[in-house]
Amino acid sequence: MMNGVFIASSSDDSLARGLADQSRTALQNLPPEIKDLPLHIVPLKPFNTVGLPALRALLNDKQSHEDGASRESSGGEAVKPGFSLTGLAEELAAQERGLVLVMGKGGVGKTTVAAALALAIAELGKKVHLSTTDPAAHLAQTIEGNVPNLTISRIDPKEETRIYTEKILEAKGKGLDDEGLKLLREDLASPCTEEVAVFHAFARTVFEARRSIVILDTAPTGHTLLLLDAAGSYHREMLKKFEESTPGKVKTPLMMLQDESQSKVLLVTLAETTPVSEAAALQDDLRRASIEPYGWVVNRSLSVSTTRDPLLRKRAQHEQKELQRIAGGLAKRLSILPLMTEEPVGVPLLKKLLRAGAQSPSP
Ligand SMILES: Nc1ncnc2c1ncn2[C@@H]1O[C@H](COP(=O)(O)OP(=O)(O)OP(=O)(O)O)[C@@H](O)[C@H]1O
Ligand SMILES: [Mg+2]
Repeated sequence: MMNGVFIASSSDDSLARGLADQSRTALQNLPPEIKDLPLHIVPLKPFNTVGLPALRALLNDKQSHEDGASRESSGGEAVKPGFSLTGLAEELAAQERGLVLVMGKGGVGKTTVAAALALAIAELGKKVHLSTTDPAAHLAQTIEGNVPNLTISRIDPKEETRIYTEKILEAKGKGLDDEGLKLLREDLASPCTEEVAVFHAFARTVFEARRSIVILDTAPTGHTLLLLDAAGSYHREMLKKFEESTPGKVKTPLMMLQDESQSKVLLVTLAETTPVSEAAALQDDLRRASIEPYGWVVNRSLSVSTTRDPLLRKRAQHEQKELQRIAGGLAKRLSILPLMTEEPVGVPLLKKLLRAGAQSPSP
């Protein structure tokens, strides 16, 4: 089943045409493994598919689910963004160092936002390091070509584990006999090793932000929280170990993440019910670790687009309820990026996304 496929009505709207083209191309280029399977298409609906009436409307192939848009958008004026990525880039570029962590659930646009922000900082003439746990191929695609001032690196869990294992074997394996080595190898083969190895890579990146500007494109929730958790235990262990002998001197990655002057967390989401709830849950988790998110980025928003397509306009109206939820308490700062006609992959299109997001008024 192919869900949420956009089918343009008889509209001459460029965004609608672009989206319909994207769907068509994706459907024409299905991977060979699934190409010949029976396919059922569920069209993109104008409403959020949450709740019984919405689910019934989904089953009935109805285009409208009426207790929706009119009531949801009755909250008065449309929500306006309070900060732009360009503005944030300028803020960061004014300093010599700093860390931005881009977080959020899978597929909401973390890598895109991280790449756009890194690009904007590099263009302002500051050295910036973009670090990601996303497979390198995708990121390279997103920001292909050489951008001066910008370096990209990838935290590869498998590779980090290999390096870490080798390091430990070299340091601790020296004096061991065969039996001892066997035990050590067995120890290192446990799943904890990957956790520790990725954490070390993460800590390296965090500390690098003491010297330069670093953007960290994190993996979706599960992994991020694991890292935070690891950061928390490491933090407690370090404090226990060193706080007595050198009080006030210990700096752990967690402490850097908690300090807003050094680190800023951006939560990326879509203006849809479930993604917003999940981002709110992630924010709660961060707050439990005493990390206060700097701002929220709503990506792929129709509210800030100029579309005239009737279905997309309806969806834009439904977005208002979510935007009000975010602006009305969830987010301290809100940035809204439009849904683009083309996927913002590569330097020119990322610049276009930055320009589009920057048009929104700042406070
Ligand atoms: N504003 C936008 N308009 C149109 N397409 C977008 C926009 N932002 C992102 N996309 C596209 O949406 C897809 C997902 O974006 P991206 O890869 O940045 O998400 P992600 O959160 O990093 O995903 P993952 O969790 O898998 O790492 C990509 O194909 C990207 O090109
Ligand atoms: Mg990504």
